Amino acid sequence: MMDQITTSGILEITYVIASVLFILGLKMLSHPETARRGNFLAAIGMILAIIATILFHKKDGQPIHNIVWILAAIIIGTLIGWAIAKRVKMTAMPQLVSFFNGMGGAAAALISMMEFPHVSPELIAKSGMANGHVLAILIGLMIGTVSWAGSMIAFGKLDGWIGDMRIKAMKYVNLTILTFLIGFIAFIMTRKVTAIAELTPLIYIMFAVAVVYGVLFVMPIGGADMPVVISLLNSFTGVAAAMGGFLYNNQAMLTGGILVGSAGTILTILMCKAMNRSLLNVIVGVFGGGGQANTDEGGTIKEISISDAAVLLSYSKKVVIVPGYGLAVAQAQHICHELDKLLEEKGVEVKYAIHPVAGRMPGHMNVLLAEADVPYDKLIESDEINPDLPNTDVLVVIGANDVVNPAAEDNPTSPIYGMPIIKARDAKNVIVMKRGMGKGYAAIENMLFFNEKTRMLFGDAKGTLQALVSEVKNM
Ligand code: TAP
Repeated sequence: MMDQITTSGILEITYVIASVLFILGLKMLSHPETARRGNFLAAIGMILAIIATILFHKKDGQPIHNIVWILAAIIIGTLIGWAIAKRVKMTAMPQLVSFFNGMGGAAAALISMMEFPHVSPELIAKSGMANGHVLAILIGLMIGTVSWAGSMIAFGKLDGWIGDMRIKAMKYVNLTILTFLIGFIAFIMTRKVTAIAELTPLIYIMFAVAVVYGVLFVMPIGGADMPVVISLLNSFTGVAAAMGGFLYNNQAMLTGGILVGSAGTILTILMCKAMNRSLLNVIVGVFGGGGQANTDEGGTIKEISISDAAVLLSYSKKVVIVPGYGLAVAQAQHICHELDKLLEEKGVEVKYAIHPVAGRMPGHMNVLLAEADVPYDKLIESDEINPDLPNTDVLVVIGANDVVNPAAEDNPTSPIYGMPIIKARDAKNVIVMKRGMGKGYAAIENMLFFNEKTRMLFGDAKGTLQALVSEVKNM
C-alpha cells in the first residue's frame, strides 16, 4: 500500500513538473532570444513524463508490460525523428512540421481505436454509452484522424506533389460530412448495448469517414492560404491528445494537449485575421476568390544595375526591406544584415517589413533574421509599416512575391484576393531581387514587377546582395 502511494505520488508530482515545464517552454517560445531554451525545457518535461510513466504507472496494481517493445519503439522513433530533423533544410520545415503533426494526430486516433473495444461492461451497465469516457474516445478518434489525414495532404501540397482540387459544391460536401461525423458520435452514444463488441465495427466506419473529411477539407485550399490550415491542424492534434489525457486521467498529456490545442487555435484566429479569411471557411476548406492562377497578364519590366541600386540606396533617407521565401532559400540573411548596417552607417534608416505568412512557416522571417542578429525592433509588422511606405524612398523586395502582390487588392477573381499585403507600390521606388520571373507559392502573376516605380535586380539573392555590399562599400 505504502509502495503504491509513493509511486503514484512520484508520478503525480512528475506530471505537475512536466506540465510546468511545458508552460514555461511555451512562454519562452514567444521570443526568438528565448525560444531555443523554451524548446529545450519543454523537451525535458516530455522526457520526465515518459520516464516516470514507464517506471511508476500502475494499472490495477500492475506495472506497465511490454517494456522492451515500448523502449524499442521510442529508440526507433527518436532515431528516425532525429535523422530527419537534422537533415531537413530550413525551407522544408513546414512539410516536416505538417508530417510530425500528422503523426501526433495518428497516435491520438490509434489510442481511441485501441481503447474503444476495452470500454468496461461495468461502465456500460452503470451509465450506458453516454459517458465522458466514451465521448473522449470518439472525439479523440474523429479529430485525431482528421488531423492525420489533413496533415498528410498538407505535407504533400507543401512538398509540391499534390495540387489543389477545387469543386464548386465542396463547401456543402464538407459541411455534410462534418455534420454526419458529429451525428455519428451522438448515434454511438445513444445505443443501448450490453457489451462494447456490438459497436466496435462502427468506429471503423467513423475512422474511414473522418479520413475522407480530412482529405477533402485540405484538398481545395490554395497556396497562399496553407499557413492557416496548418495551424488549424496543429490545434486539432492538441485537442485529440488532450482527449487521451482525459481518458487516462494523465495530467501531463492533458496539459500538453490543451497547450497545443489552445496555442494552435489562437494562431489560427490570428492567421485568419492576417489573411482576412473566416474560420468557418477554413474548417470547410473554402478560401479566397476561387479564381485560377493567372499567367497571361504582364507588361514591360525595367532592370537596374548593381551600381545604380547602390547609389539609390546610399542616397536614400528611408529604406524598407521586405524579406520573403527566396531570402531563406538563398540563405542571404547575414549578408542582408551587412547591407543594412552599411546603409545605417551612411545615415540611412533601414527597417524590415514582416508579413505574417512570408516564407513557409509562421514566424519564418523573424527566425531567419534573428539568426543573423538583426535587432528585433527593426522588424515591423506589415499593417504597422504600410502607412509609412509613401514616405519610404526605396523598398527592397528580397525573394518575396505573394506578400507584395497587388492582385490581393485589385483582382477579385485572384485566389489571394482579400489577403492583406505589404503595399510595396506605395513606396517612392521599388527594387525587386529575385532570380528571374518565377512565380511565388500561389503561382500567380505579380503586377508589382511591371509597375512604373519598380526596377528588377535579377540573380540569386545572396550573390546580388554580396555584389551590392561591395559596391556600397566602395562608394
Ligand atoms: P513566395 O511568394 O513563395 O515567392 C518567393 C520568391 O522568391 C519567388 O517568386 C522566387 O522567384 C524567389 N526566389 C526563390 N529562390 C530565390 C533565390 N535563391 N534568390 C532570390 N529569389 C529567390 O514568397 P513570399 O512572398 O515569402 O510568400 C510566402 C508564400 O508562401 C505565401 O503565398 C504564403 O501563403 C505561402 N506559405 C506560407 C507559409 C507560412 S506559415 N509562412 C506556409 C506555407 C505557405 P524566382 O524563382 O524568380 O527567383
